[in-house]
Amino acid sequence: MSNLEQTLSIIKPDAVERNLDEKIKSIFLTHGFKILKEKKIKLEKSDAEKFYKVHETKPFYNDLCEYLSSGPVVVMVLEKEEAVSSNRKLMGATDPKKAEEGTIRKQFGISIDKNSVHGSDSVDNAKIEIDFFFKN
Ligand code: CMP
Repeated sequence: MSNLEQTLSIIKPDAVERNLDEKIKSIFLTHGFKILKEKKIKLEKSDAEKFYKVHETKPFYNDLCEYLSSGPVVVMVLEKEEAVSSNRKLMGATDPKKAEEGTIRKQFGISIDKNSVHGSDSVDNAKIEIDFFFKN
């Protein structure tokens, strides 16, 4: 049965700064994702705070929001069968040190903060995150 989904992907400042955005986009395409929408933007810290609001009680929240707004990011809507779980598998564990071989975070991540990519963690959050960046 077909289960076409959309998910939000962010190529984070550490990867954009190292000019890895085209390389990472090609990995998504190779793995059968369609890039339906895409834009390169620089977030304000207040935007990052809204985006990561679910983490606002976490000790890393402030650093996380500082970091996401520290340089340009590429935000994309990706589409594929089971896009949410497929993208999370392709990204690998949040901490690049724990990510499996062949995953994006294993290949490019520098640290748990500078982990190169974000991906929605559920279909419901994907809808919220896609609206956050692309609803106008
Ligand atoms: P991301 O998938 O974008 O979602 C939240 C981000 O918080 C996560 O990737 C990490 O980059 C960052 N983060 C920093 N410290 C932690 C931590 N201890 N646990 C989980 N995420 C963390």
